[in-house]
Amino acid sequence: MVKMNHKIYLGNSLEILKKIEQNSVDMIFADPPYGMSKSKGLSWAFSSHVTMQEVWDIFTRDELFEFNMNWISESLRVLKPGGSFWVCGSFHNIYQLGFIMQHLNMKINNSIVWFKPNAQPNITTRMFTESTEHLIWAVKDHSKKKWVFNYEKMKELNDGKQMRNMWSIPVTPKSEKWAGNHPTQKPFELLKRVILSSTVEGDTVLDPFLGSGTTSVVAEFYSRNSIGIEINNDYVNLIKTRLNSTREGIGDETTEIEFVEM
Ligand SMILES: C[S@@+](CC[C@H](N)C(=O)[O-])C[C@H]1O[C@@H](n2cnc3c(N)ncnc32)[C@H](O)[C@@H]1O
Repeated sequence: MVKMNHKIYLGNSLEILKKIEQNSVDMIFADPPYGMSKSKGLSWAFSSHVTMQEVWDIFTRDELFEFNMNWISESLRVLKPGGSFWVCGSFHNIYQLGFIMQHLNMKINNSIVWFKPNAQPNITTRMFTESTEHLIWAVKDHSKKKWVFNYEKMKELNDGKQMRNMWSIPVTPKSEKWAGNHPTQKPFELLKRVILSSTVEGDTVLDPFLGSGTTSVVAEFYSRNSIGIEINNDYVNLIKTRLNSTREGIGDETTEIEFVEM
């Protein structure tokens, strides 16, 4: 078994990214703040569900643009030529993310629609029910080095047919949320497709907004290294629990997991 390493930073990605060597990671996956939280969430009389109202998600319009420009530019510096840069977002932020990526000369290979067949109902009844999120798959300096695309692996995951850019994946199941609560934990299956499509074993994946740690958990499961950054200590504890359990689950005693407070 190849010896893997996961380095998790507790701190602000805007500062920590600057300390990571340029052209040093093979792939980036980022699921940044959506900028959709209001100071007060909207509750629903028929359910305990409350819309997003996370402190880390509150920005003015200008602040959100500056924030997105900063972390995308720094992440791009750290990515190797030919490396894949994935972002995931909702309609609230995906257009701005795509605009910045094009502005920074990345080549956009695909936009993927993640369809959630079991999305929750619309609470206002004044618009269509949101049941999708969006992923952009872009590449840095593709003229210098070709990107990785594991075409056959994707076909295998799709019952022998070409994998399309519409992925039907249910919202994160309760069975994946056993370690604690994170409001936007992504499903294992989503990161599985992202990581298996555009990296090879032993590669290093960077996630500047690690959240509950899904990217590192999937990286460990499929023998990739990871670097993750998360600003909230409670979520870093969640990451510790999930990552240790994944390592034990696959019987991997050699993997190193480092937690660094900055
Ligand atoms: C949309 S969530 C990511 C969820 C993650 N993909 C998962 O599967 O759990 C965004 C995360 O970014 C973190 N965050 C927000 N601003 C940050 C910053 N400046 N630096 C590092 N982390 C940040 C939040 O605490 C939150 O956990």
